[in-house]
Amino acid sequence: MKFLITAGPTREAIDPVRFISNRSSGKMGYALAQAALDAGHDVVLISGPVAITAPRGAHVVNVISADDMYDAVHANLAGVDIAVLCAAVADFKPARYVERKIKKRDGIPSIELISTRDILASLGALSEKKFLLAGFAAETNDLEKNARIKLTKKQCDAIIGNNVSAPGLGFESDENELTIFLPDQTSRVLPRAPKAELAKSLVKILCALQQIS
Ligand code: C5P
Repeated sequence: MKFLITAGPTREAIDPVRFISNRSSGKMGYALAQAALDAGHDVVLISGPVAITAPRGAHVVNVISADDMYDAVHANLAGVDIAVLCAAVADFKPARYVERKIKKRDGIPSIELISTRDILASLGALSEKKFLLAGFAAETNDLEKNARIKLTKKQCDAIIGNNVSAPGLGFESDENELTIFLPDQTSRVLPRAPKAELAKSLVKILCALQQIS
């Protein structure tokens, strides 16, 4: 099968030296890419800026901003069987990019923010979608409620929820705990484990879901 995986954060430029971003390390997406490759699948990995090395054998497309990631995802959909959008895409970007470094002496700037385009929702809305579509939900509270809202709103086949409020789990960590929420109202918990192990289980589950979809 062919996987398309997004990973890492995006950076939304304010001026040539400043940006808005988040704490995503890319570890979960990279672990998924590695697990899919290990299981013999093809992988297109669309990655925001991270400090980790891409798995050998993946076709890696490096991007910076949410707009870049949106374009790269849509340009790489041919032949995809399973799309897993793991990236922590910035929700907001500056309304205007300032071409020259903003000078401190000019005072504190006010930066107007606008929404980025939602990549996951844009794939869910494709009428001729032939692939299984899974997204992630990183939540600090009301995990199930928020994950189910995303599942419906973004028209996904699965939302994988992770609780990022627990110490040692989620962002930047090597471990995670996942719950897979499905449209038939069922869910499946993958208890706390190293991300590499969870990724292996997740690849198996997603392949099984793809085959029955
Ligand atoms: O709405 P929220 O950002 O919590 O949704 C998370 C899911 O949506 C993740 O799968 C993330 O990769 C995806 N997403 C996206 N494009 C955005 C924002 C989120 O693909 N602009």
